[in-house]
This record gives sequence, C-alpha cells and structure tokens, in this order.
Amino acid sequence: MKKTLLLAGAFVAALAMPSGAAHAAGEYLKPPLQDWSFSGPFGTFDREQLQRGFLVFRQACSSCHGLEYVSFRNLAEAGGPEFSTGQVEAFAAEFRIPDGPDASGEMFERPGELSDRWISPFRNEREAAAANGGKAPPDLSVMAKARTFERGFPWFITDMFTQYNENGVDYIAAFLKGFEEPPADMEIAAGNYYNPYYPGQIVAMPNVLFDGAISYTPEGANRPVAPETVEQYAKDVTAFLMWTAEPHLEQRKRIGFQVMLFLIVFAGLLYFTKKKIWGRLGEDGAPEFRA
Ligand code: HEC
Repeated sequence: MKKTLLLAGAFVAALAMPSGAAHAAGEYLKPPLQDWSFSGPFGTFDREQLQRGFLVFRQACSSCHGLEYVSFRNLAEAGGPEFSTGQVEAFAAEFRIPDGPDASGEMFERPGELSDRWISPFRNEREAAAANGGKAPPDLSVMAKARTFERGFPWFITDMFTQYNENGVDYIAAFLKGFEEPPADMEIAAGNYYNPYYPGQIVAMPNVLFDGAISYTPEGANRPVAPETVEQYAKDVTAFLMWTAEPHLEQRKRIGFQVMLFLIVFAGLLYFTKKKIWGRLGEDGAPEFRA
C-alpha cells in the first residue's frame, strides 16, 4: 500500500513539474504536441499536405538545405506527395547535376532527371558553412527521425501504449515557428538567431517563414487551399519532411496491422487444434501416455 502511494505521489509530482523556463543556459522549451495525420497505428499521409509541404520546402528551404536521400522519382511514387511524372520531370530539370567525365575527360553539368537525387544547393560542406556564418545547413532527408526531445516521466511510459512516435516532427514544427527576439540579457553574435526550442537556443539559421509569403492558391483559382500562415507552412513542410524520412510509413503501418490480424486468427486456430489433439486424453478408452 505504502509503495503504491509513493508511486502515485511521484506520478503527480512529475505531472506538476513546470516544463522549464527557456532562458537558463542549456535548457530549451519543450515542443507542444501536434495532431498529425500519420500518427497512430492507422496513420496515413495527407497527400495534399505533402504537396503543400513540398512547395514550402522548395521555396523557403531548398536554397540552403538538400534532401540527398530523396530521388526526384520518389516524388511521383505511391505513398508520397504523388505528383505526376511530368510534373516531377519538369522540376528535376531545374537542377544542374554535376556529371562526367565526358569523352574528353571534362566534368560537366546537365539538367536533373527522375533518377537523380535532390542534391544540396552547395557544392560541398565548406561552401555551405562559408555561406551561413560558419555552420553548414544539414541535409534534411532524415531529420524528422534524427531529432527528438526528452518527454520525461511519466510520458515515456504512456508513450509505449499510445505509440507516440512524433517527437521529431513536433520538434521541427515548433523550431520553425519558434524564432523570436532574444531576451534582453542575451548576447547574440551576428549571423546567429534566438530560438527557444533549439537546444542551446542560439542557432545559425534565420527565420524563413512569414505569413503570406508562399502562395497556396492554385493557378486559376481565387482562394488558397489552406491558410497562408506560418503555423500552416511549418506544419506542412514538417509533414513533408516526415515523408522524406520515412517514405514507406503507410506501407509499414498497413503491414503491421495485417500481421496483427493474422497472428490473432492463427492463435485461435492453434487453440482449437490443441484442444482437438489433447482433448482425448483421459477419456474412457482413449490411449494414455505411460512413462
Ligand atoms: C539561409 C539558409 C537557410 C534556410 C533558407 C533554411 N535553413 Fe534550416 N538551417 C540553416 C542552418 C545554417 C542550420 C544549422 C544551424 C546551426 O547548426 O546552428 C539549419 C538547421 C536546420 C534544422 C536543424 C535544427 C537542429 O535541431 O539541428 C532544421 C530542422 C532546419 N534547418 C529546417 C529548415 C526548414 C524546414 C527550412 C525551410 C522552411 C529551412 N531550414 C530553411 C540554414 C537555413
């Protein structure tokens, strides 16, 4: 009884703990949890959100960040944004892909094709760092899986049951919306910016999202398909980054469910088989095992 009380006390204490002031050194704000179409065991991507996210990435991020694990053809494949092959070919052709050597031994550049990868806008990491105040913008292909934050007790226990797996995307969405003026007592060197969600709080990436900066109005239409706000841009581009990090997420969840169904049916069959085989033991006239 005493133990249970103690445990319950610890639980309540952990819940009541403040989520942390952002300003102390080494601390950062915990990202708020968001609703994602792809969370939970039956989650799927919202195709239109992925297409909008692609648009945001292309206009607001691709001048600094690459997606080197994404080939252009992936953008037309099932389970992703599912653009048409024609659309993707036209997009790929905007890239200058280094290739060669040609017959005379020269390296050359050619327009991108479906089989090429979405390369970094910089030739190499040094150039990327030099253009960004000494910090190279990281490749974002798998960033949604690479970043996480500590959920702490008791959430890491409840997360096992709720299958919470969206730390990475909750962090990226909060990070993209989180740029603000630094506190008065904080010194920030040129080329650095304040973001309380970033571990360390001072980051070499500037704020890139502004309300209305990216048009969500399709050609010929007179209304945007989604709100043109920082909130929406951040969410859409983050969903897109979840897809680049796990392009087979939908397939994985579908197969997982089918396997669970199969195991349940199979367990039932095994149960009845066992009953049938062992049921005769001990009945009159039934064979008995002898030592
Ligand atoms: C002007 C160049 C520039 C643009 C544009 C830009 N970034 Fe960045 N980004 C950077 C740099 C530089 C860093 C590395 C920051 C550091 O290490 O301090 C970074 C880091 C990041 C990180 C990693 C943060 C972490 O926890 O390490 C994410 C995620 C990110 N950017 C997402 C985006 C997204 C999404 C967009 C588009 C909406 C974008 N960035 C646009 C320059 C840029």
